[in-house]
Amino acid sequence: MSEITRIRRLTPREITARKGAEPIVCLTAYTAPIARRLDAEVDLLLVGDSLGMVLYGFDTTVGVTVDMMVAHGRAVVRASSHACVIIDLPFGSYEESPEAAFRTAARVMAETGASGVKLEGGVEMAPTVHFLTRRGIPVLGHVGLMPQAVNATGFRVQGKSAEEAAKVRADAQAITEAGAFALVIENTVEPLARALTKELAIPTIGIGASAACDGQILVTEDILGLGGAMVPRFAKSYAALGGAIDEAVPAYADDVRARHFPGPEHVYPLAPVEALKADGRRAG
Ligand code: KIV
Repeated sequence: MSEITRIRRLTPREITARKGAEPIVCLTAYTAPIARRLDAEVDLLLVGDSLGMVLYGFDTTVGVTVDMMVAHGRAVVRASSHACVIIDLPFGSYEESPEAAFRTAARVMAETGASGVKLEGGVEMAPTVHFLTRRGIPVLGHVGLMPQAVNATGFRVQGKSAEEAAKVRADAQAITEAGAFALVIENTVEPLARALTKELAIPTIGIGASAACDGQILVTEDILGLGGAMVPRFAKSYAALGGAIDEAVPAYADDVRARHFPGPEHVYPLAPVEALKADGRRAG
């Protein structure tokens, strides 16, 4: 964190202003204990709908509900004070119309206290992004691989062919012009992510989109070694907490079975007088 201690959160406008200056550090957070640990180190905490897969064990993000996002969003906002907190709008809660998106986004903002929302989509969602940003809701865009569309597109690297690259570029430009404060670019080939970072007026936040982006985001569980069996190629591992759990839990189980836990330091003894009474002897 910078030497100057912040007394308020970073805002979406301040994130936008970072373009071309310092790299923007972003991570996902779904719970209070994790948010508390990340808050001072990152610029932006995303309560991503990836929580459906990471926390709830879903195969995709499609089953995530607005209620889930609100519950986790409140926990993350409550446990942080420095990072800009952005909450994903889940599948089915915003695509139908700009008005539907506004209702969902307004509820999420009001019930969590977050600073903005993220939604997936390109050209087709630009009118919705425009509608929200004109009404006071900061929007983080998300193009390239869009996990909510996985049933239609699969999990594929984007922008390999000229046709695909033109589509991602059109999506990125449309969302930028619609007023998004920054843009997540997911699983997209390096030269395209680099070009978009140069062309767009807003910061690009890469996930599997190269170091050329203005910032980076990863799923926290993936960098801590707490992800599932399938950790994506773009996620670097910075710790092996899964291995630490695999050692700690059998040690606890062995202690309980051997009656080594709890030890005297973990129990509440009575004061001497009560101890004598409990023993049936006379005090004093
Ligand atoms: O849902 C999520 O966590 C995301 C990021 C990883 C970009 O969309």
